[in-house]
Amino acid sequence: MAVIADRCPHVRVTVTDINPERIRAWNSDRLPIFEPGLEDVVRRARGRNLFFSTDVAAAIRSADLIFVSVNTPTKTFGEGAGRAADLQYWEKTAREILANSDRGKIVVEKSTLPVRTAAAMARILNSNGKGLRFQVLSNPEFLAEGTAIRDLEHPDRVLIGSEETPDGVRARRVLANLYATWVPRDRIIESNVWSAELSKLAANAFLAQRISSINTISALCERTEADIDEVARAIGTDSRIGPRFLQASVGFGGSCFKKDLLNLAYIADSYGLTEVARYWESVVRINEWQEARFVQTMVANMFNTVAGKRIALLGFAFKANTGDTRESPALAVARALIAERARLVITDPQALPNARADLADAAESVEFEDDPYAAARGAHALALLTEWDAYRRLDYRRIFDGMAKPAFVFDGRNILDHQALYDIGFNVFSIGKMPMMRV
Ligand code: UGA
Repeated sequence: MAVIADRCPHVRVTVTDINPERIRAWNSDRLPIFEPGLEDVVRRARGRNLFFSTDVAAAIRSADLIFVSVNTPTKTFGEGAGRAADLQYWEKTAREILANSDRGKIVVEKSTLPVRTAAAMARILNSNGKGLRFQVLSNPEFLAEGTAIRDLEHPDRVLIGSEETPDGVRARRVLANLYATWVPRDRIIESNVWSAELSKLAANAFLAQRISSINTISALCERTEADIDEVARAIGTDSRIGPRFLQASVGFGGSCFKKDLLNLAYIADSYGLTEVARYWESVVRINEWQEARFVQTMVANMFNTVAGKRIALLGFAFKANTGDTRESPALAVARALIAERARLVITDPQALPNARADLADAAESVEFEDDPYAAARGAHALALLTEWDAYRRLDYRRIFDGMAKPAFVFDGRNILDHQALYDIGFNVFSIGKMPMMRV
């Protein structure tokens, strides 16, 4: 919404949330999330045509267009627990919109929702005694964390789905015109509402599938002297495959991929499409296997025990340039190492507050350290889990000198110079490459 306000000074944007703490933070100098470039955008628009408020009712009343971005986590209870999307916040919001409207409005689904949710929402909104007509559009968000501002300013595409009726098409044109202020027209795709909803889940499923696919190949590389970077480069130059999202890793994380894959599988199951469901679930299964495999490699090579050993985790965020740790592979790795009774020291430039909260129940096994050099001091092993640029540039000779010997590096993101580390004296393990062991 900040980018819309920045790019469309003629539009008044009010962001509203029931959480006063969060709104206070949005109105302060310390925004509640870390995202490169966001501060500048907010600073330019805030107070001009971008406002943050807890007055949800007033914001609804004055709006012509309402974007709903409430959370749709995986259900933890009842039918579909662990797989289906929990839609209670969405439905509550729809009812709140209805209660505070005295004219019809365009309601835009921004949250990722199961296919056919828009229809349910339209029914709730249009079953009112006031004779008001609402149009529900699906406008899924494709931005990725860490590059959110760039993704929003220069999107590959904007997708807008609506009912295929004259009113529906008119509503989606209103939204398309808003985006057209800064997005080239040929990048604005209009479709029916189901296609838009399903495309969001399918896009994330395809992206996650590429990572799981390359990760299965990484396991083969580690056994065969093939090198995963060489393989990824070779297949990525096929223009039909393309080079992106072929970076083998300790696993994918983030709040979306797993949730959306499980949700897609649940939807497939609910239509009796068992094979489809199992196919997409296997992407999640491979990811969990890859995380587990990483820890097994660590334990097996550190003489089959890490009990009592100090291990430094470089990075805890699910990817670089964010403080977000949701579904981070680092969390899975940390938990598995704690189960092996290792002593962990976690460092991360942005994610330590979240890491502390995530591991609050394991406080006696974990330390948190801002300085990566201090984290590595006295450690038996380094496990690099987030591809922060800063970790490429550390003085690994200095780190090596302060570590217990033999010293190990497990590069879960393949960003380090493995030959240089080996030359310093490390035993080096990476994803999809033969280990480099000192005898
Ligand atoms: C993802 C999608 O990329 C966005 O298009 C989508 O809008 C978003 O989910 C969402 O649904 O909200 P995000 O989760 O922010 O974005 O981050 P990604 O860049 O997709 O990375 C996800 C995970 O995959 C990270 O843990 C990353 O390190 C990992 N990854 C990514 C790999 O292991 N290898 C790769 O080649 C690429």
